[in-house]
Amino acid sequence: MGKKREMKILMIGNLSGHMSSAVKIAHERGADVSSVDSVDAGLEIIRSRGVADVGMVDVQCDIAGLVDHLKRERIHMPVVACGIEGTSSRQASQAIRAGALEYVPLPPNAELIAAVLELVSGREEDIICKDGRMVAVVEMARRVADKRASVLITGGSGTGKEVLARYIHKHSDRSGRPFVAVNCAAIPETLLESELFGHEKGAFSGAVAMRIGRFESAHRGTLLLDEISEMEPRLQAKLLRVIQEQEVDRLGGSKPIPVDVRILATSNQDLSAAVREKRFREDLYYRLNVVAIEIPLLRDRPLDVEVLARYFVESCSKENGLREKEISVGAMEKLQGHSWPGNVRELENTIHRSVLLGMGDEIGAEDVTFSRMASESDGEGEDGWVGKSVKEAEKDLILQTVGHLGDQAQASKILGISLRVLRKKLEEYSLES
Ligand SMILES: Nc1ncnc2c1ncn2[C@@H]1O[C@H](COP(=O)(O)OP(=O)(O)OP(=O)(O)O)[C@@H](O)[C@H]1O
Ligand SMILES: [Mg+2]
Repeated sequence: MGKKREMKILMIGNLSGHMSSAVKIAHERGADVSSVDSVDAGLEIIRSRGVADVGMVDVQCDIAGLVDHLKRERIHMPVVACGIEGTSSRQASQAIRAGALEYVPLPPNAELIAAVLELVSGREEDIICKDGRMVAVVEMARRVADKRASVLITGGSGTGKEVLARYIHKHSDRSGRPFVAVNCAAIPETLLESELFGHEKGAFSGAVAMRIGRFESAHRGTLLLDEISEMEPRLQAKLLRVIQEQEVDRLGGSKPIPVDVRILATSNQDLSAAVREKRFREDLYYRLNVVAIEIPLLRDRPLDVEVLARYFVESCSKENGLREKEISVGAMEKLQGHSWPGNVRELENTIHRSVLLGMGDEIGAEDVTFSRMASESDGEGEDGWVGKSVKEAEKDLILQTVGHLGDQAQASKILGISLRVLRKKLEEYSLES
């Protein structure tokens, strides 16, 4: 159950045997891997075939140069450095300083590769639901899947907007073609423009070569514009033109390129309110909102809490090679009674914690703990958090999680921070004491 979406990995470097076992592991995890032996060849592939979700690069390569190129050419691709064991730690830290997100020693450890993939990958494709309200949403998605119409998916954070978008693509007649997702909130405006529309050589000072945009990579497939409400007005205008004309102008290009792309968009705020407040173009809104699907909050579909909880226990146990435990009646009551400000994502994290940290034969109520979310009102003096600074609370949280799990990769996943950040913090704490 729960097939991961295909992720595109670009491996750069001459790591011969070592790299090939990394390729094999990534492949087994369902990734689509291309490998090239130089930074230049890597850039060539990105420009012509579209960007990968992650670049895994030999530390011997010029990582600083690559990162610099990506920046100047306005290409958004996280870089993970890889080095053969025994490589000096100086090289590893240099790679991080040069802008790599993580460092992975080779020969690759399956766990580490999995953690890296997790870090940059999208999640499950299946939609688990039982509650009538959510069943109706999925039925609606199914009905509109193979229409060409744009769909605007709204819902609170973590309700499953991206999951639903992937579902629509999977059930459309475009499923054999690419599904390309762009997070409009995560990418700065100038980068986003290049990212979406591509650019010609010489379009700006760093544009040393032509590069295709996400619209072109999504040709005949589906383009997900995630968190569309965050897009700047200037880009909104440009996007509208592309959707109307069905052709893109690369930055600095002289002739438009026809594209056939189905557009899905998500927003976790009410986009019609943004239109009223003149933050979002009305004409674009109507283009995107041909079909509107609103995903209910998790607290408004109580029957889903139970099936999702069981599903996450199963998948998390499987992923970590653990025996699958039952959820006790008390634990289930506790889950049912929670308000889930972070919706399904929060439930998923809660279950992961209880599976990985719980000691008993079954998951008991005491194993179910809720992390405080920014959206929740301030704590009411529970658990001795009041009176602590955020920094102190963070330290407690990190040390306790690592202590419980004894595994930094796993802990970083649960804490929602990168392995690199986790290690840095642990280093700081050990210096303090
Ligand atoms: N019905 C579901 N079945 C299985 N997994 C789900 C379901 N809904 C959400 N998830 C899981 O919950 C997490 C959050 O889902 P997703 O990323 O689609 O939410 P989102 O609405 O896009 O969140 P955000 O607003 O933060 O972008 C993901 O890990 C996803 O796999
Ligand atoms: Mg999302």
